Amino acid sequence: MYFDLSEEHLMIRQAARDFAQKELLPGVIERDEHQKFPAEQIKKLGELGFLGMMVSPQYGGSGMDTISYVLAMEELSKIDASASVVVSVNNSLVCYGLEKHGSEAQKQKFLVPLAKGEKIGAFCLSEPEAGSDATSQKTTAIDMGDHYLLNGVKNWITNGNSASTYLVMAQTNASKRHHGINTLIVEKGMEGFTVGAKENKLGIRGSDTHSLHFTDVKVPKENRIGEEGFGFTFAMTTLEGGRIGIASQALGIASGAYELAVNYSKERRAFGKTIADLQATQFKLADMATEIEAARLLCLKAAWLKDNGLPYSQASSMAKLFASQTAMKTTVEAIQIHGGYGYVKEYHVERLMRDAKITQIYEGTSEIQRIVISREVLK
Ligand code: CAA
Repeated sequence: MYFDLSEEHLMIRQAARDFAQKELLPGVIERDEHQKFPAEQIKKLGELGFLGMMVSPQYGGSGMDTISYVLAMEELSKIDASASVVVSVNNSLVCYGLEKHGSEAQKQKFLVPLAKGEKIGAFCLSEPEAGSDATSQKTTAIDMGDHYLLNGVKNWITNGNSASTYLVMAQTNASKRHHGINTLIVEKGMEGFTVGAKENKLGIRGSDTHSLHFTDVKVPKENRIGEEGFGFTFAMTTLEGGRIGIASQALGIASGAYELAVNYSKERRAFGKTIADLQATQFKLADMATEIEAARLLCLKAAWLKDNGLPYSQASSMAKLFASQTAMKTTVEAIQIHGGYGYVKEYHVERLMRDAKITQIYEGTSEIQRIVISREVLK
């Protein structure tokens, strides 16, 4: 068993680290405060190949493995989780789904610009009354012969306004329950498709989260991904990989807060010594470091399984469950180490704590991850 990263992996990690310091750190506090989407930064990430990291070069991607993706996600998320969620959704939920299940024509038309970062994608499963209970889709896609007529509302959609390409799950035959669901590629600008107001969120405030409204949108049949009724399986299998991305985001938030806490504890003096000299601080840092390392190993294990064509559903849910818990716990402790300074924006840790919370909610809540894991355990 090898735990070493390859030269290439180390280079990718360094490139992501440098990008985060140089391009994401300046203005991250202001973007959070004003809910400003990091458009320029995402454009640059696209130019550098981070938006289609795992897509084959044949379709405009960087052809990297999932391990590289975990490393990049950790580094970007240490600094700006609002930017890294765009990287995660575009890579795992949109590009991966299109490359794995799309037709050649769909890949040429939709995947290539997404993988090159010329366009951004969104994954549209959640509805006002169907988040965790994903089989209860109310959005309908009625079969009209050469097209589907799409009607309904999607909620909490990451990249809701900045995306150009939307993968939308909708019910075509309700009597078949989840076997009647299709995934359709919807383009911005299609008649009857409108983007709702931006959500005013606790964390990842720079990412743009919107509801989407579909009223008699005519979606051509050739925009359906896979066979008729494949939509729910498409969503579930795609989310398995998405959870590795969000687990790595949680890992990055945790390690970002930990690094800030370590640095601060070496500078801050109290009772005649640095607070790093106090055992109360040392024990906190020891726990943080241990849990972060465990989260990192779970993320890398899930990525390794995926890269080697092995089942990774349970592993990705374990990584997401544990890394998101670690993100919450670590960011709270990082604030505690910073004392009053941790409670104000300039020191970054309060933002990381707010950002951490979403990792326990999106792409399946912690409870959903426990369902996936326990089903495997009890098989
Ligand atoms: N791979 C393939 N198929 C799967 C699967 C998987 N991982 N998980 C379930 N399925 C299939 C089952 O085999 C079953 O099909 P059959 O009837 O043919 O056997 C079908 O899906 C339904 O499965 P269940 O009966 O197990 O369904 P369930 O209602 O009990 O729920 C669930 C399963 C795991 C809870 C699922 O609904 C789930 O994962 N829910 C959470 C959805 C989610 O993550 N939402 C987040 C929104 S996306 C997002 O947040 C993106 C963003 O913007 C950041």
